[in-house]
Amino acid sequence: MTLLFKRWTRNVPVSFMLLIFIVMTMSLNIKAQNNKKAENAAFNEKCLKCHGQSKYRYINPESGSEVTKRMYIETIIPRDLFAESNHKNFKCTDCHSEDYDTFPHPGHLRMESKYACIDCHGGDEAYAKFKFEEIETEFQSSVHSTKHSDDFNCWMCHNPHTYKINARSDEKIKDIVAYDNAICLNCHADITKYQMLTDKVNPNILKKHEWLPNQALHFKNVRCIECHARTNDSILVAHNIQPKSKAVRRCVECHSTNSILMASLYKYKVQEGRSKTGFYNGVIMNEGYVIGANRNYYLGILSLVMFGFVALGISIHAALRIIKRKK
Ligand code: HEC
Ligand code: HEC
Ligand code: HEC
Ligand code: HEC
Ligand code: HEC
Ligand code: HEC
Ligand code: HEC
Repeated sequence: MTLLFKRWTRNVPVSFMLLIFIVMTMSLNIKAQNNKKAENAAFNEKCLKCHGQSKYRYINPESGSEVTKRMYIETIIPRDLFAESNHKNFKCTDCHSEDYDTFPHPGHLRMESKYACIDCHGGDEAYAKFKFEEIETEFQSSVHSTKHSDDFNCWMCHNPHTYKINARSDEKIKDIVAYDNAICLNCHADITKYQMLTDKVNPNILKKHEWLPNQALHFKNVRCIECHARTNDSILVAHNIQPKSKAVRRCVECHSTNSILMASLYKYKVQEGRSKTGFYNGVIMNEGYVIGANRNYYLGILSLVMFGFVALGISIHAALRIIKRKK
């Protein structure tokens, strides 16, 4: 017993030191991560000094003089949006070839093959909740993929330098709607982008939705995918865009107590349990009022009770009159 105690007391300083060691390595680890972030950011400046704005400069080796040129609009990377994006901690060359370090960029880089989302996220436990594989399958049966399988990929909607997760956040529903709709309008309201993929004339989106009353209000409060994508219970954001013939047109799909919005736009808030009690579809109430979808449960009961009393009153009144008349 005493021996055990002695051993234990002798071990106290050892375990104490072990603890300190663990804490230190942990904080060093965090420090190293932060250092890596700072390092990457500093490295990216080498690219962004040209790609970060509308003009770039270089020294012409033949004349030795500095030349200023206009950067092509497609090759400008918005610095601030990159800094907020999901992949903000990346070095440009984590996704692009190291050979971009030289300018003019070597010609063969134009043929550089690009990663797909699934190359990094596929089968990774850390991202299991996003269900990348399921999204991939859904995307493959969408109109975009079936009609333009090779040309249409995930990057077309998820800009590699600016994509930032929105739907899975506490942001206002209106902000999420604006962000997500901008993704679709990027092509559907832009002739050049649309026609990179097809020779078809880009239909005028506003004209094609004239049947929808208060169109501007609707486009601010619901996403295109609410009407155009088939919902799938196991993923948060539906990716299976359907042909136009299958789009939602019936008002009651949203304006009713079993509104489809609960399984799409409001899904995340529903999952997180952000609801006010009393109202049908209370989560919607936190953000706005959708006619038909927000009936109040208690008010409903109250009106039933009132109706009951009125009916009771009338029948008592009628019974009394009948009894009276009989007399
Ligand atoms: C001196 C200015 C300058 C610097 C520095 C620079 N670029 Fe560029 N980059 C350009 C210009 C101009 C183009 C468009 C013309 C071309 O392709 O050469 C371009 C094109 C590109 C392209 C598109 C190529 C294509 O045709 O699809 C990529 C990708 C790229 N740069 C990545 C990088 C990366 C990554 C870095 C940093 C390691 C970097 N650039 C640094 C000026 C620069
Ligand atoms: C997460 C991966 C990733 C990171 C990080 C990344 N890129 Fe890209 N970049 C891509 C992909 C993918 C494309 C091709 C997009 C497409 O084909 O639509 C691309 C395209 C480009 C283009 C050509 C744009 C065009 O449309 O022709 C330039 C220029 C570019 N990247 C520069 C950069 C610079 C500079 C950085 C760092 C600040 C950077 N990239 C960081 C994945 C990435
Ligand atoms: C080169 C590898 C790579 C590619 C390609 C890539 N990602 Fe990522 N992605 C990562 C890594 C690593 C992180 C974690 C970054 C961090 O924590 O700083 C990440 C983060 C994310 C996150 C944020 C996760 C969170 O929990 O906040 C999302 C969402 C995401 N990626 C989606 C995509 C999509 C969609 C694509 C394709 C359009 C894609 N990624 C392509 C490696 C990649
Ligand atoms: C037609 C456009 C479109 C295409 C193509 C597309 N996505 Fe998305 N994706 C979206 C929109 C819109 C969102 C919602 C963004 C937000 O608000 O966070 C989203 C969200 C996501 C998310 C986050 C979902 C969550 O649970 O939070 C992942 C992961 C994702 N997409 C992966 C992919 C992958 C992988 C591909 C290719 C197989 C792909 N996407 C192709 C439009 C698209
Ligand atoms: C990169 C450009 C691009 C983006 C981004 C894009 N689309 Fe498309 N979309 C197209 C093209 C091109 C077609 C025409 C396909 C065809 O018929 O050849 C199309 C077709 C469609 C159709 C089918 C119309 C029909 O004729 O049946 C619908 C619906 C649609 N898109 C909705 C969306 C929605 C919703 C989003 C956003 C989540 C979106 N698109 C994002 C380019 C895009
Ligand atoms: C309230 C539901 C609803 C919303 C929201 C909605 N759409 Fe539609 N959309 C429809 C219906 C229904 C049609 C079919 C109209 C027809 O057949 O004439 C359609 C047609 C289309 C077409 C095919 C046009 C054609 O005739 O080729 C495209 C592309 C499209 N929508 C894109 C979008 C985009 C992008 C958004 C978001 C800015 C959006 N839609 C929002 C219901 C909706
Ligand atoms: C995809 C879901 C969806 C569909 C389909 C839909 N609506 Fe709506 N509607 C909404 C939402 C969300 C609002 C905005 C609520 C708010 O102001 O917060 C709205 C608002 C309205 C408003 C305006 C109410 C006000 O406060 O001014 C009217 C009117 C309306 N819808 C009628 C219709 C009619 C008629 C149809 C069918 C042709 C229809 N809606 C189809 C979701 C939908």
